[in-house]
Amino acid sequence: MPKIVHVKGTGTIGEPLIGLLADNREAFGIDEVTFHKRTPLVTERGKVNDLVRRGAVLVADEDRWTTFEELGHAPKYETREAIERATVVIDCTPAGNENKAEFYEEAAGPVGFMAQGSEFGFGKMYARGINDAALVRGEDRFLHIVSCNTHNIAVLLKTLAFDDDGTCHLEDGRFICIRRANDISQDSGFVPSPTVERHKEERFGTHHARDAHHLFGTLGYDLTLFSSALKLNSQYMHAIHFSITLDHDITVDEVKERLVANPRVAISYKRSANQIFSFGRDHGYYGRILSQTVVAVETLAVRDGNQVVGFCFTPQDGNPLLSTIAAMLWYLDPDTMEDRLDILRPYLFQEI
Ligand SMILES: NC(=O)c1ccc[n+]([C@@H]2O[C@H](COP(=O)([O-])OP(=O)(O)OC[C@H]3O[C@@H](n4cnc5c(N)ncnc54)[C@H](OP(=O)(O)O)[C@@H]3O)[C@@H](O)[C@H]2O)c1
Repeated sequence: MPKIVHVKGTGTIGEPLIGLLADNREAFGIDEVTFHKRTPLVTERGKVNDLVRRGAVLVADEDRWTTFEELGHAPKYETREAIERATVVIDCTPAGNENKAEFYEEAAGPVGFMAQGSEFGFGKMYARGINDAALVRGEDRFLHIVSCNTHNIAVLLKTLAFDDDGTCHLEDGRFICIRRANDISQDSGFVPSPTVERHKEERFGTHHARDAHHLFGTLGYDLTLFSSALKLNSQYMHAIHFSITLDHDITVDEVKERLVANPRVAISYKRSANQIFSFGRDHGYYGRILSQTVVAVETLAVRDGNQVVGFCFTPQDGNPLLSTIAAMLWYLDPDTMEDRLDILRPYLFQEI
């Protein structure tokens, strides 16, 4: 059977994912990459043409097929047909749950479906390196790749509050997500000044702590977490202020040792999003840092012996991209997943 990966959506997450898959088809063991674009747009003709040049195949809704052709594109498959013939479907739209009800639940062909950060409830939550042990082959047909800031919170907790044998030493985790207004690829949603968010979740504050709680819940943990969020009038990177209280004392040096020992954590002596984003531009995969967090080491402090405090930056599309690829490889063949991921390891930085 040919291995076909179908991506729905060509936005901030979909566009780099389709390119990454098309460029590395051989390394990932994929025979064909197809992608669905909903709206035919002259402003996005260049993007579609380049993805097709790199080997990805365009899919369109039947009623928009002609408009795509008028723009010079040549769609090859229709929406349902592309889903049915795919081995894995990766939804990169803000409508993953709607698409699940409309298309995915009744599709017999694919072995797995994934949706991204906003799609709470789509399936079992997943972040690479956090809860791989929770994935059950044959059972977990739907996976929810958690959001970028949830990845960041989760990797901090896993690195600082857990032993290798799974023993948890967390008493309390507090996170302030200081978000960039919008992505550099987006025109809408910018805020002119710092804008704070409501605490909509009674127990968790914002969805970031809620999602991290449920992510660790797939492994049987019930963590005490709370998050707050605000947006800044910047387009570069999210930052997070964290305060992690442990059930034992720890020193700043021990905190650094733990961070350095985790290959999914980057440390940095830089303290501005500009500088870290710019490093990604020069050394990342098409500008993207695939590490799950970039910790500003000079901000680390320990209060009262057991409360670890500091700031870190979130590689906002890099960390879900890596988890998405890892989950896709797991669906395709769990035995070759680790080896096939090697091609992306150069973009997991130890120091930035
Ligand atoms: N932005 C980030 O940095 C980031 C990071 C982590 C996770 N995420 C998650 O990734 C997902 C997508 O976010 P995004 O920022 O990539 O969105 P985006 O840039 O707005 O792009 C959305 C894409 O989905 C398509 N689309 C929207 N509604 C659709 C529908 N009902 N059916 C089919 N296609 C539809 C759009 O197609 P057309 O334009 O062709 O109409 C567009 O290609 C969300 O779950 C988000 O939480 C985003």
